[in-house]
Amino acid sequence: MSKPTYYLSTPLYYTSGKLHIGHAYTTVIADAIARYKRLRGYDVCFLTGTDEHGLKVQKNAEAAGKDPQAFVDELVASIKDLWRLLDVDYDIFIRTTDEHHVQSVQTIFNKLYEQGDIYKSEYKGWYCTPCEAFWTELQLKDGKCPDCGREVEWVTEESYFFRLSKYQDRLLAHIEAHPEFIQPVSRRNEMVNNFLKRGLEDLCVSRTTFNWGIPVPFDQKHVIYVWLDALSNYITALGYASEDDTAFRRYWPADVHIVGKEIVRFHTIIWPILLMALDLPLPKQVFGHGWLLFDDDKMSKSKGNVIDPVAMVDRYGSDTVRYYLLREIAFGADGNYTQELFVTRSNVDLANDLGNLLSRTVAMIEKYCAGQIPASERATDFDESLVAVAAVTKARVEEAMDGLRPHEALEAIWDLVKRANKYIDETTPWILARQEATRPELVTVLYHLADVLRLVAVLLQPFLPRTPAKICSQLGLPVEVIADWDSATPGQLQAGARVYKGEPLFPRLDLATELAAWEKKPLSPPLAPEIDIDLFGQIDLRVVTVLEAERVPKADRLLKLKVALGDEERPIVAGIAQHYRPEELVGKQVVIVANLKPAKIRGVESQGMILAASDDNGLAVLTPDRPLAAGSKAR
Ligand code: MSP
Repeated sequence: MSKPTYYLSTPLYYTSGKLHIGHAYTTVIADAIARYKRLRGYDVCFLTGTDEHGLKVQKNAEAAGKDPQAFVDELVASIKDLWRLLDVDYDIFIRTTDEHHVQSVQTIFNKLYEQGDIYKSEYKGWYCTPCEAFWTELQLKDGKCPDCGREVEWVTEESYFFRLSKYQDRLLAHIEAHPEFIQPVSRRNEMVNNFLKRGLEDLCVSRTTFNWGIPVPFDQKHVIYVWLDALSNYITALGYASEDDTAFRRYWPADVHIVGKEIVRFHTIIWPILLMALDLPLPKQVFGHGWLLFDDDKMSKSKGNVIDPVAMVDRYGSDTVRYYLLREIAFGADGNYTQELFVTRSNVDLANDLGNLLSRTVAMIEKYCAGQIPASERATDFDESLVAVAAVTKARVEEAMDGLRPHEALEAIWDLVKRANKYIDETTPWILARQEATRPELVTVLYHLADVLRLVAVLLQPFLPRTPAKICSQLGLPVEVIADWDSATPGQLQAGARVYKGEPLFPRLDLATELAAWEKKPLSPPLAPEIDIDLFGQIDLRVVTVLEAERVPKADRLLKLKVALGDEERPIVAGIAQHYRPEELVGKQVVIVANLKPAKIRGVESQGMILAASDDNGLAVLTPDRPLAAGSKAR
């Protein structure tokens, strides 16, 4: 019998800049769901990829002095590296610059044009380039983009339009008949009340003011609107409108599109209407998750509060980063990232609760059972309650994951981990070990602990891809014993394995050290454009000796110096009075630009400029590190 299918996707990531930890959130969640479904026996297709067209990419590529294709190629490589570092195990990675995608999107555009759902007209309205979104006057908030709050541009151009209006009643009926289609419920209400019930305007689906996009096949001066291009990926990735559409026939309709809340509108209005126009079934669900906030603010490059996920994984390992993202934020709601919360989660849940449970269990099996997992012999009063918790954990994890609530699934696993730690305190194995008479109870306790750890290792696999194998290795079990999800029930551990005391699963972090490690280091300013050596050669740099120095009256920042250059003496005015007292400079040698055109500064003649550099701690003039003849040339 063939396996049931499960098709899920993340949005396509923009390739206009590097990704931050908030971006990684969507993908890590989707990966945990995909891994879970695979373990549950589904034939999973997990799609992710990159959204590479549009004006923003074109502009950023120009600013970087690169050809757009080369620019996106580099970013795509870094995005793939990030997913590898975070153990994101996708099945398909689609790029909107992939030839097969470009062709399928053109086929889709053609079809819609031919059937009259796309028509030519003129667009007049507001456009937000960062969001690649069109807005009406009424939708603007204080004249700015209602999504991101940035400036919008007035656009007037000949464009193609997509008849959203024609399908709005059908869409509304679908949403009403399928309450699970838009989740969570709050997002459904927002879409219905704020957009659909107010009536949809036809959507402008082509642009002529830039060319980094998929050309309209029959009118090449137009490129296809990026959202139409990008949304189509969910079917083009499966081969829709191509020669081989086997995967499309197998996996479509999608089980769930996981998207951030700000793009729910595109996925629950434009996308389903596009599918209706193509006469295709709609995805079963669009889940709009909340944002990962940084100290209660949205993470964004312009606010300078982005956290680099690569640096996080480097420092803490992917399982710790994944654990935080999956556990801290209730899926659907906004959640916060702070270094304090991160360190606390890592220390309390991972190092203490889980890490200590393993190290205590292994240490006791070594000490009391010569390192060999014993068989259960005689139950104590506490066993029943531990086993009862262990027995329901799998079902709790399943219920949470089937409802897309990974944070609750982890909570269920940790209830068991904590129960097992408490069980050690209740049964006090070190006291049971004192008498031969209580040895049967002792070995039973140790068996149960090892068995719970095995069970936890099975259930942790979707969330923390690395830790389960480490648990197995310390318990002396081959990883195959955790391969079967259904083995996550109590009592399945075979006695006899030889435990092995390894490294702690998770190191304890010191908050002060972690805070210091992430403190913003002053960044050096960007480099000026490259120049030829000839140009540099035209600048005459000389070492001079300061003969006299005095303040310039009524000018706080200026000092007037007399310097010796060979046997010549020259006046120089320098803006360094806030950093040097005149007497500190007399006798010092400094470097000047000697062939600058003389200038009058505050009425005082200046024949050259002193070289100085500054950082957060102030300014320093450049001086040679041994006395040189005044007038020596610097090069
Ligand atoms: N390219 C579009 C999607 C096209 S899908 C056909 C896009 N790209 S994005 O790179 O801006 O965002 C990708 C995903 O990252 C979105 O789901 C977005 O919500 C998510 N996140 C970006 N910043 C985020 C946080 N700070 N927190 C949580 N998710 C965030 O939108």
